[in-house]
Amino acid sequence: MATILVTGANRGIGLALTQQLVARGDTVIAAIRATSPGLDALGVRTIDLDVADDAACASLGDRLGDVTLDGAILNAGILIGSSLDALDLQGCRAMFEVNALGPLKLAAALRPRMANPSRLAIITSRMGSMADNTSGGAYGYRMSKAAVNAAGRSLAVDLAGEGIAVGLLHPGWVKTDMTANSGLVDTDTSAAGLIARFDALGPDNTGTFWHMSGEPLPW
Ligand SMILES: NC(=O)c1ccc[n+]([C@@H]2O[C@H](COP(=O)([O-])OP(=O)(O)OC[C@H]3O[C@@H](n4cnc5c(N)ncnc54)[C@H](OP(=O)(O)O)[C@@H]3O)[C@@H](O)[C@H]2O)c1
Repeated sequence: MATILVTGANRGIGLALTQQLVARGDTVIAAIRATSPGLDALGVRTIDLDVADDAACASLGDRLGDVTLDGAILNAGILIGSSLDALDLQGCRAMFEVNALGPLKLAAALRPRMANPSRLAIITSRMGSMADNTSGGAYGYRMSKAAVNAAGRSLAVDLAGEGIAVGLLHPGWVKTDMTANSGLVDTDTSAAGLIARFDALGPDNTGTFWHMSGEPLPW
């Protein structure tokens, strides 16, 4: 079965992804800042990773040791509220660091560890869509997810020759800590949809932006 690295695997969507991948027999490497009872129960290999730490990201490929990845799901992310009336510039910078630069740094670091063929999924958000933005606000979060979408498109082009298919996946509005459990879907439903999209990634659809439901999303 496949070997897949998941970031932010200790809680929320990342934990549900890890649980489902393990349940079907995949080997998951959980890249995390801190573990959790739910993750401990799975008994998977963990590796320390703060995605805001450039050195930790750059060394990840070496720290993995002799491992070839069939896939990576770059899920770690943060949401810090920032409105026009209450701009949180520190928060905006933090979101850009984690949500936009994080996946880019990890794609570069993991590249030598990726099999040919393999799959790289970035958990983005439809809030990064220009066309879909009819409600405004969420400065910083929207900007960071738009930026990671741009990175994902370039990665799809740059990694095509190495057989690495890149997907930009929106998980839905999900009941997690990030949404104070106010979402429309639970983490299991979201993870199942994300894994279906992940499994379907290949050379014919690399660089596309999908809702976990399978609906293509506008840029
Ligand atoms: N929930 C939604 O409705 C929704 C909608 C659209 C997109 N998304 C995206 O889905 C992804 C997962 O979100 P979620 O809802 O599961 O959020 P969550 O429950 O808040 O979990 C966030 C995860 O990211 C990790 N993380 C945050 N900053 C990190 C850092 N600097 N280094 C390493 N790990 C870090 C957290 O680890 P710690 O425990 O160490 O903090 C945690 O595992 C995010 O990219 C988010 O933007 C979520």
